[in-house]
Amino acid sequence: MRILVLGSGAREHAIILALRSEQASHDILAAPGNAGIARDATLVDLDPNDPAAVTAFANGEHVDLVVIGPEAPLVAGVADALRERGIPVFGPGKAAAQLEGSKTFAKRVMDAAGVPTGRAVRAHTRAEVEAALDDLGAPHVVKADGLAAGKGVIVTDDRAAALAHADQYLSGGPVLVEEFLSGPEVSLFFVSDGDHVLALSPAQDYKRAHDGDAGPNTGGMGAYSPLPWLAGAFGGEDAFVDLVTKQIAEPVIRQLDAEGTPFIGLLYAGLILTEQGVKVIEFNARFGDPETQVVLARLATPLSTLLMSAASGHLEDEPAPAFAEAAAVTVVLASEGYPESPITGRVIEGADAAASVDGVHLAHAATAERDSELVATGGRVLNVVALGNTFGQARDRAYDALGRIHLEGSHHRTDIAARAVEG
Ligand code: AMP
Ligand code: GLY
Repeated sequence: MRILVLGSGAREHAIILALRSEQASHDILAAPGNAGIARDATLVDLDPNDPAAVTAFANGEHVDLVVIGPEAPLVAGVADALRERGIPVFGPGKAAAQLEGSKTFAKRVMDAAGVPTGRAVRAHTRAEVEAALDDLGAPHVVKADGLAAGKGVIVTDDRAAALAHADQYLSGGPVLVEEFLSGPEVSLFFVSDGDHVLALSPAQDYKRAHDGDAGPNTGGMGAYSPLPWLAGAFGGEDAFVDLVTKQIAEPVIRQLDAEGTPFIGLLYAGLILTEQGVKVIEFNARFGDPETQVVLARLATPLSTLLMSAASGHLEDEPAPAFAEAAAVTVVLASEGYPESPITGRVIEGADAAASVDGVHLAHAATAERDSELVATGGRVLNVVALGNTFGQARDRAYDALGRIHLEGSHHRTDIAARAVEG
């Protein structure tokens, strides 16, 4: 198959590596990609956010399937333009992508579909924010309504900090003040053809910058899959996945279909397992980053089959995806200053030595090749991805590999998947 992948992060690299690992020899193109992706796909000079340009390229180059990695092209309407031309695309149209692009939209759809989520108040003014903070109580959760790359959220006991956060966004539109939900977080991905869904294996993400969940929210600093502790809480992964499929994914997909905006692509359910049951904290309209790096590393079913079946409306005929038993851990190496103000342009050494560790591969997040050196071009730079027979082994491998990489001033968390080792 000739497949065009849009995006330039470690998520897109992981998607491409999964496609590469299939028996079939696909012709994989990526726009714009990065230095790591360049080793596994042909980079094309194309603006991934330009619907007309992407459509003309896919049409002219006889692309069989377009896979949209990040949210920006979805919100820009790239999937709509491709679908209008009859080009199979994995990714929802602009309207359905509002599930991620607008928290207000997501809450409305959840209410209509009867999906469990926290209470939320949409506040337009400072006075409304203050009233909502008092009504919902501490800890306070305040979110920007639109896309904010995982950084528009504050969770704090400090009322003044919650208000200051709201002030930052209020001039651009309303903010959401939410009920605080307490419990472990799980990311669960569903491949959807607009009508049917197939769940992938659950993962846990580490959103805070520093060990022990300290520091600011980031795009994600590491992840692991599967989640061994689900056995105790839910009687195992299958029972958990079944419950979330029936109570959350299917009702939302049916609701969007009924509204005339079918969701074809990846439904990312960000969940909190509260004492009152599983609740949704957010939906995303695309694969999560870095969870994808661990979920796809364990996927035994050909990814291209899942994505193509979803894009062409034939998911009903596909069996549930199969996953290796292996433990998968990914740790993100971030530039100095990430997430506030990352310093870029520094040279990365030791990437090949890291990738030579048993069971380890690298997914590049923000790298470029300059004068035959690898340099960091963004906040999240590289993901070390390690597979092992146990989480202890996968963690040892990941941190052994990470220790071989040198990037001046870089930081990473040292506690990724520590919880999984305990079981
Ligand atoms: P979001 O961008 O909505 O995924 O929020 C980022 C992170 O903030 C989540 O992964 C949670 O850790 C935290 N968070 C968001 N909403 C809530 C909530 N209602 N209760 C508790 N924590 C939350
Ligand atoms: N890892 C969180 C996200 O992809 O939004």
